[in-house]
Amino acid sequence: FMPKVLKGQRVLVTAGPTYEAIDPVRGITNLSSGKMGFAIARAAREAGAEVTLVAGPVSLATPRGVTRVDVKSASNMLSAVAAHAQSATVFIATAAVADWRPAAASAQKIKKDGSGQTPQLQFTENTDILATVAGLPAAQTGRLFCVGFAAESHDLLENAQAKRLRKKVPLLVGNIGPDTFGQDHNALLLIDAQGSLELPRASKLSLARQLVREIAGRMAACAPT
Ligand code: C5P
Repeated sequence: FMPKVLKGQRVLVTAGPTYEAIDPVRGITNLSSGKMGFAIARAAREAGAEVTLVAGPVSLATPRGVTRVDVKSASNMLSAVAAHAQSATVFIATAAVADWRPAAASAQKIKKDGSGQTPQLQFTENTDILATVAGLPAAQTGRLFCVGFAAESHDLLENAQAKRLRKKVPLLVGNIGPDTFGQDHNALLLIDAQGSLELPRASKLSLARQLVREIAGRMAACAPT
């Protein structure tokens, strides 16, 4: 049973990996399954929110009652998020957004020419979607509550707290890994200005429901950073 702690809220969630094209048939992606983000979208909906889920390429069913927008690249994801952020009251960035994209995707399939030469890829940095949204006036004044995620390989608390301050979000959630990609279970470390709270190992849906309650609890009283 999920109490309607987000009734009247409009929640925007990003989930899954992004896909950055190299040419029409090749690209760069990552192993994010989208399961945590989809579970959060479902839990937010159960809690009474209107939910928009911006999803990178994943093979997951849309949670009941959730509006889904499918995207491929980080820049597609940024556009979709920008279009919905104005009306949102909560933004939860779970997507594993590619840090870089090939600087110029080839319009045609890159061919082997028989010389043994290999293509040299140049990269451009993608815009940080979470930091962009956290910089909106509504986020600065606390009308849009932003939540980030972090997957750190070491010193989770220190690195995640630094990331929270750098991205200027009131709540940052660390994956207590090491490797939760594609798994149905996880454990989370919630980090805010007051300190940290561990949500012990459980199903991603159970963790999502707990996280939604924590977000609702913090929204009442919390100012950014
Ligand atoms: O900097 P790092 O990628 O570790 O930060 C992770 C957090 O930032 C996640 O919440 C992720 O969804 C978000 N992010 C983003 N846009 C990017 C990179 C990360 O929204 N380009």
